[in-house]
Amino acid sequence: MSSGPWWRGAVVYQIYPRSFLDTTGSGVGDLDGVTARLDHLVWLGVDAIWLSPIHPSPGVDGGYDVADHLDVDPLFGGLPAFDRLLAAAHERGLRVLLDWVPNHTSSEHPWFVSSRHDAAGPHGDWYWWADEPANNWPSAFGGPAWTLDPVRGQYYLHLFTSAQPDLNWNTPGVRAAMLDGLRYWLDRGVDGFRADVVNLIGRDPRLPDLADLDPANPNDLVGRYRDPRTHDLLRAIRAVLDGHFLVGEVPLADMSAVPSYVDSTQLHRAFDFSLMEAPWSAQAWRSRIAAAEAAYGPAGAPAWVLSSHDQPRHRSRHGGREDRARVAACVLLTLRGTPFVYAGEELGLTDPELTPEQRVDPLGRDGSRAPVPWTAEPGHGWAAPDPWMPWPPHAARRNVEVLRAEPDGILWLYRRLIALRREHPDLRDGELTLLDAPPGVLAYRRGGLTVQANFTDSPVRVPRGEVLLATEPARDGMLAPCAAAVLAG
Ligand code: GLC
Repeated sequence: MSSGPWWRGAVVYQIYPRSFLDTTGSGVGDLDGVTARLDHLVWLGVDAIWLSPIHPSPGVDGGYDVADHLDVDPLFGGLPAFDRLLAAAHERGLRVLLDWVPNHTSSEHPWFVSSRHDAAGPHGDWYWWADEPANNWPSAFGGPAWTLDPVRGQYYLHLFTSAQPDLNWNTPGVRAAMLDGLRYWLDRGVDGFRADVVNLIGRDPRLPDLADLDPANPNDLVGRYRDPRTHDLLRAIRAVLDGHFLVGEVPLADMSAVPSYVDSTQLHRAFDFSLMEAPWSAQAWRSRIAAAEAAYGPAGAPAWVLSSHDQPRHRSRHGGREDRARVAACVLLTLRGTPFVYAGEELGLTDPELTPEQRVDPLGRDGSRAPVPWTAEPGHGWAAPDPWMPWPPHAARRNVEVLRAEPDGILWLYRRLIALRREHPDLRDGELTLLDAPPGVLAYRRGGLTVQANFTDSPVRVPRGEVLLATEPARDGMLAPCAAAVLAG
């Protein structure tokens, strides 16, 4: 095992609780469902789980509209279910990370209810209020970021839906209350947090316009938003964490700016979404890996992701092809940094086709939130046979029960990759050196190991060594079409 903090080269498994497993018959996944499957995650080999928000929420933005930071939604089983999950995870050596949403609350949060009813009251300045829209900012969900509240008779700022008013972190009470929220969960025993859109919290109180906003891209502001105050706030947040892990979502379009949020006083890690946006091309993946290596230098590294609750699953993005999903997994789990696996990608899931009536997310991000199938029969192990979202395609094949019985299948590939990462400190912590390779092949060294990924549909002749793991068997010393391998030497 490598030395250093546990998260350095660890594999974190993201769970979207609504979609993991329902044990009550509500049709919505719950925390006892997560507890029931922890042994499976131990078998898979991950080090930690990250739970997307579990707090009471109206669910306008899938739980990212938090109405009470200090409780667990009864839908998920409430605090007792959370305490059961945490204890069971720790018994098994699994760490638990919570999603922390600092930029905004739900409009149903008592702080906002108080703020809109009583401008002079204790929460009057906890949000951003103005008599007229104070700037040109758009909401990432479309339309302006300012909405008139009929109760207070003023406009409030919301960079996401109008049900998610932005908190004003310049108000001391907001800072104190939000940091107390972190302390509350740390006292309860959590191992860290994933901080949602955390680049947005620092604000110039004058809220200046942002020049040259692209009217066709509602994400332009979020993707460009930088304010030096965010760094000071991150230092205050990190001080509370007392050694616990903090990974941040800093969704800047210019990825080279992200490492400035990552150091010994700010985030431990920030997500790198560049592989999520990359087309199926060795050159494109190589340039993104090279950019991250250059931006972080040897001392830092990103949290890598292929899939999440916000994007179509990577297999869907790459033509629905399992061979590509396997190559992508091999790259993800052999990169330098902290890879995040999104629940269900290890089953090779793709997104279902959904009718407009089946969609519930305002941005249509529902496909990757389809429920995880655990067994082959209809109902797939869920207490309610018809969950809140349709099953992903081929759930009778792509489920845990069937795939655990297939040692050549994609689930075992994930398991073997994670085990390899654990066995080889070079994969967790070692340097990464990009290698010259034939067109269509991505190759790099990790200490004493070499990774070769053939993005083409033809076999490629590459230098071969002892194959430790391959997504497809090698043929005649060639790297098979659309295949990847990890070699010793
Ligand atoms: C993050 C979350 C996304 C949410 C947004 C607003 O990007 O991942 O699901 O809609 O923040 O909270």
